Amino acid sequence: MNRAGLRVWPVAAGAVAAAAVVLVAGLLFGGSVTEKVIPGLGDPGALTRWGLPASRTAMDLLSALTVGALLAAAAFLPVERGRGPGRTAKDARSSQDAARLSKDAVGYVHAASWFAAGWAAAAAATLVFTVADVLGQPVQQVVTGSELSSYVGSLPQGTALMIVVLLAVVVALLARTTATPAAAFGLLVMAGIALLPAPLTGHSSSAANHSVATTGVALHVAAVAPWVGGLAIVGAHALLRRDRLPVMAERFSRMALWCFITVGASGMVNVIARLPDPVELVETNYGRLALGKIVFFCVLGWFGWWHRNRTLPALADRRPWSFTRFASVEVAVMAATMGLAVALARTAPPPPATPDSAVKALLGYEMPPEVTPARLATLWQFDLFFAVLALVLGGLYLAAVVRLRGRGDSWPVWRTAAWFVGLLAMVAVTQTGVAKYAPILFSVHMAQHMVLNMLTPIFLVVGAPVTLALRALKPARIRGDRGPREWLTAIVHSRYVAVIAHPAVATIIFVASLYVLYFTPLFEAAMRNHLGHIAMMVHFLAAGSLFFWVLLGVDPAPKKLPYPGRLLLLFVTMPFHAFFGIALMNMSQALALGWYNSVDPPWGTTILHDQQTGGAIAWAFGEIPTFIVLIVLAFQWYGDDQRQARRLDRKADRAAKSGGPPGDDDELAAYNARLAKLAERDKAEADKQGKRP
Ligand code: HEM
Repeated sequence: MNRAGLRVWPVAAGAVAAAAVVLVAGLLFGGSVTEKVIPGLGDPGALTRWGLPASRTAMDLLSALTVGALLAAAAFLPVERGRGPGRTAKDARSSQDAARLSKDAVGYVHAASWFAAGWAAAAAATLVFTVADVLGQPVQQVVTGSELSSYVGSLPQGTALMIVVLLAVVVALLARTTATPAAAFGLLVMAGIALLPAPLTGHSSSAANHSVATTGVALHVAAVAPWVGGLAIVGAHALLRRDRLPVMAERFSRMALWCFITVGASGMVNVIARLPDPVELVETNYGRLALGKIVFFCVLGWFGWWHRNRTLPALADRRPWSFTRFASVEVAVMAATMGLAVALARTAPPPPATPDSAVKALLGYEMPPEVTPARLATLWQFDLFFAVLALVLGGLYLAAVVRLRGRGDSWPVWRTAAWFVGLLAMVAVTQTGVAKYAPILFSVHMAQHMVLNMLTPIFLVVGAPVTLALRALKPARIRGDRGPREWLTAIVHSRYVAVIAHPAVATIIFVASLYVLYFTPLFEAAMRNHLGHIAMMVHFLAAGSLFFWVLLGVDPAPKKLPYPGRLLLLFVTMPFHAFFGIALMNMSQALALGWYNSVDPPWGTTILHDQQTGGAIAWAFGEIPTFIVLIVLAFQWYGDDQRQARRLDRKADRAAKSGGPPGDDDELAAYNARLAKLAERDKAEADKQGKRP
């Protein structure tokens, strides 16, 4: 081990010790490790009572380190250009200016591979301990018995942890051979997805409003991991005295602020969802542990403030020591908070004042009264995920428009209006009474599906978000590096987008997902699980946005269909929706019968009749987007023709003035001139920033 490495280990050991001490204290305080006698359930034994929180803490810490190391490689460290490690001369010739990971970044990807392997092992241990804990059997018995496999298949917690193990193993293996920023970014996304299933295995499902609690803890953990893992890796980079520390720390700090806000807000949502009565915060062990977390959170907030006002300016001034010292202490405080977090997750929240009915346990709310149009509009049902999504999409779009305006550039008001009409349509079916009745009635679910899949996307696509982002985002400060704008350009021109946005592929995804979802057990599985339900609705939105992006998109896209081709695509695709509706109307069997039986309302029609109503909605609804798309296409086509005519007129004028035949490369010349103007403006902007190395 080299001398630099020797500086890291004491800090790492200190952090692990801090997590362990606070975990043990929290578990003893919360009482979750004391032997309990539950009628009909044996005692899993001390090994499980202590092993489960220990493996869970290891799982949470290693998942954060994996995400932190991949973030450092793909986003914090500047990308380099030219031949990368392990690339052949032939590669170098073909991709001389290809983006590649720096030596340190490749080092962090390899570190991520080890962290991910540890994460998989800790998740596997958590799975075994969770089975022993739920079945009330000693862990030895579980490991040798057959319970494990049946538990993994039959219970959401088991399946969730198994998914974590599998994804972490894949990340660990792929990270061994990852050498490009795009691949590191892909691994980061995969690790991010692997973070989500585990929180489902906490108290979310038993919380007063479990849909908010589930989304809340998933958002919470999704913000905690990059914050904790990012700081640990930047701290290690400082201790190892590696290059580019100021850039890395500054980029981490910008991300950390948003993580801090998200962790605080989602943490409070989590507490409110589990402790509806604020008095319980001081009167229950669970409440007091949550208060402890709030204190740690405030301390971490102070660290962040101190970094921004003291250590980062010193770092930019080539005085790294105060940053290194502070980051090392902060890592220990963060690890301690993670220990407390697991102790909290292991401590039972106070039981609800009135025991939940069977329907409330499934839906997270009591059965609403008979459905009426007025109640669909007024009986709002707050969905945290789509509320945050609408806020983020609306906020980013507005910020981009304001930035363009600030620069004196214009952006069509009708595009902004279209974007917000799209968001409004999304809110209308994910927050109102539609969201309350959709899990209960197939017909309302189908209306929700149709709006998310065929109406919202049309307006979002007309809003041209990619074009706006490319115009509003600033170029990367370091030459050749990849900032958000370069990443977006790289993604839009990537092979992945070229395949997925091919008209044929986008259409197949748009049409086939209807049949694959509803005519397989997938639909019932998604209805039974809150994150599954969200994933289903996000898929509707994404599949619709992709299809209408191909059909209507003004954004730069790999393959643009000519207008007649778009009309053909529209008329070929829409009948499939009608067929789907008719198929539903003619079915004699109800879909997801198990689910609809368990939430069957005491009012209204039969499940099958309601499904047929859903079929009628799917059949009829197709007309609306077809009509809107035809209008938009007509306007686009007419607009393009006008532009073409003006271009030809200008050419003819110029030819008439120069007395020669009209040339056909004017279009290219005009395009290059615009690019040159854009490059000039970027250079002026970068020079204004005066930071070019
Ligand atoms: C305002 C401050 C915070 C509050 C109110 C809060 C509250 C919560 C609540 C209620 C849970 C769910 C526990 C359960 O399943 O019953 C949770 C989970 C969690 N929190 Fe926080 N939290 C806060 C800040 C933090 C911070 C600063 C960190 C880390 C640095 C953190 C890390 C975690 C982790 C890792 C989990 C998931 C634990 C597990 O299930 O394994 N939290 N938090």
